[in-house]
Amino acid sequence: MLQRILVADDAELNRALLREILEEDYIVDEACNGAETLEWLLEHRRHTAALLLDLRMPGMDGFSVIEEMKRNGWMNRIPVLIISSDDSVEVENRCLELGVSDFIHKPFDTSVVKNRVKNTLELFASKNQLETTVEEQAQTLKKQDQIIRFQAEKLREADTFHRLMMEYRAAIMEMETRFQILNAEFSQEYKRNPFESIKSRLKTPESIYEKLARKGFPMTVETIRERLADVAGVRVICSFPDDIYRLKELLIHHDDILLIREKDYIKNPKPSGYRSLHLILALPIYLSNEKKHVKVEVQFRTIAMDFWASLEHKLQYKKNLAGAEEILRQLKLCADSIEHLDYQMQEIRNQIDRADRGRPGY
Ligand code: GTP
Ligand code: MG
Repeated sequence: MLQRILVADDAELNRALLREILEEDYIVDEACNGAETLEWLLEHRRHTAALLLDLRMPGMDGFSVIEEMKRNGWMNRIPVLIISSDDSVEVENRCLELGVSDFIHKPFDTSVVKNRVKNTLELFASKNQLETTVEEQAQTLKKQDQIIRFQAEKLREADTFHRLMMEYRAAIMEMETRFQILNAEFSQEYKRNPFESIKSRLKTPESIYEKLARKGFPMTVETIRERLADVAGVRVICSFPDDIYRLKELLIHHDDILLIREKDYIKNPKPSGYRSLHLILALPIYLSNEKKHVKVEVQFRTIAMDFWASLEHKLQYKKNLAGAEEILRQLKLCADSIEHLDYQMQEIRNQIDRADRGRPGY
């Protein structure tokens, strides 16, 4: 493919002569003053192999063009050859100091012009190639260095990381046990279950790294412990909304459990319609030589809330889904229906309970 050369000269005759000489080997573009030259370069500098520049032009002269190019850091990428009829040493020196590559003197001699342009382009090409290679090597080294440091960091931390995960697993077991004991007691005493099921999960290392990175926290065991409250998660699914609050009260009255944070998305649903009661709790685990408080995120939901949330969760993994807006609107409608349904069902249960208590022999 032919390279492009920009000829900037206010004299039309000069542009025509240079075009005549060069257009056999290059695509020749033209600018007739300094401002046009810069405008062209601003847009096309990546495809411009060389600039042939007149020094004396009305308005912005050649020197100002070079100075502007220097300021923009373009002189390193585009060779500049000065078209001049002024061969004073002074001017030539000033140009060379500014980083000009060569001179083409008037009147133009065809083979001199061709050779000077060709030599300059070749010289620049090898200079650029060398710079690119050096830059690429530097980048590769930097990447390797980053990977090595990251792995070393991971290795250094592996033991403490696994120990921390063990503590979270212990906290999940401890929390589940507390709920199971409440369940056993309720079944025995009141012939009913305060919740339907429990689902627990430990956040994966990938998800932990992703969340720390997203929040701009360093990847250390200490930050995981201090900044993340949802590494250990326990989800408790109840039948009725009032079971949720009853269970919460029972749980936070355990005198060794600390309530760190509460987010009540049942009383204040998210705009999406998401409803759930979130507690961040710290509860003690007993290890061989110490007692430690560990954070657990407990989410309480009714069956209906959980049903809704798992369907809505699917949407969060589907980016740019066609018709997503309409789906969100429908989900919001469902959330409203579900809320109504939850309290309607609870009311029916209350009626049954009252009727039951009224029966002879209750
Ligand atoms: P995260 O950084 O995602 O943990 O959010 P957060 O720290 O602001 O806490 P929040 O209480 O808002 O959410 C905690 C968890 O609740 C989330 O990780 C989800 O499991 C769940 N959750 C919160 N909002 C939504 C929602 O709009 N839809 C669904 N499906 N789940 C949600
Ligand atoms: Mg979370």
